[in-house]
Amino acid sequence: MSQSQSRLVWDLPLRLFHWGFVVTILGCWLTNELGTDYIDLHMQLGYVALGLICFRLIWGFFGTLHSRFTTFFPTPAAIKDYLSQPKDAAPSVGHNPLGSLMVFAMLALVLMQAVSGLFVDDDVFSSGPYYNALGGDIDKIMATIHHNAFDFILAAIALHILAVGFYQWGKKHDLIAPMIHGKKQGVHLTDSNTIKHSRLIVALIIAALSAAFVYWLVVINIPEVDMYY
Ligand code: HEM
Ligand code: HEM
Repeated sequence: MSQSQSRLVWDLPLRLFHWGFVVTILGCWLTNELGTDYIDLHMQLGYVALGLICFRLIWGFFGTLHSRFTTFFPTPAAIKDYLSQPKDAAPSVGHNPLGSLMVFAMLALVLMQAVSGLFVDDDVFSSGPYYNALGGDIDKIMATIHHNAFDFILAAIALHILAVGFYQWGKKHDLIAPMIHGKKQGVHLTDSNTIKHSRLIVALIIAALSAAFVYWLVVINIPEVDMYY
């Protein structure tokens, strides 16, 4: 296989998820910074974030090779192996074990941020749909999470961008463009470690199920709570 032939590594749904996730998180941050006038948009973007995470969690089981959790689960043995590789070892085709730790950390942190948002109140006119539903103690815990987890998300994003930059420009592994067009190049790429197509029909079904779940969660299932207190 020639060095110059490029092969598909990241499926289209994963790439759409990635950049959608970036825009949504930036949007949640911005709408919070802009003040209470933007709180409705903040909550709607939070629902989009929930839907995206739902999609990603299911795609982690039914997606293509490098989107499946089993292919990049960061076991201690995989991390140890990776750290003891020689400096000139071929780049990982999908996520490397350190990168995959960050993937799980970012998904977990944003999931916590979005779920806790469902229970918080801005002390003005707006509150998440489950505010007051499970009792004041739960609301307090959720508010503490919602007010603090974002700092950890910011730290994770900073680390993520620094790490991607280090691999891209320090180690000269091409990472950023493949997250856009999906393809990588190199002699280490073969039929068995790359993919032929993106499983778009399966992705559409999962996207529809994820959207339906979030709609059920934040519209149909919301509990009736007494707001006159
Ligand atoms: C809000 C900011 C960001 C968040 C929350 C974020 C989150 C993520 C997540 C969750 C993944 C794993 C993809 C998956 O398997 O589901 C990922 C991978 C990746 N992201 Fe980001 N990302 C952000 C910004 C960026 C930016 C600005 C860049 C480019 C400069 C970037 C480049 C990449 C690359 C290249 C990968 C694949 C890494 C690898 O090869 O293992 N990300 N990102
Ligand atoms: C990934 C999704 C989300 C992110 C990144 C995010 C981020 C934030 C941040 C950074 C704050 C400011 C916290 C502070 O002042 O210390 C905030 C406040 C708030 N968020 Fe979210 N949020 C998300 C999802 C949600 C959701 C789903 C809801 C509700 C449906 C929600 C409702 C609120 C409310 C009501 C406030 C105001 C809380 C207060 O002023 O005490 N958020 N959010």
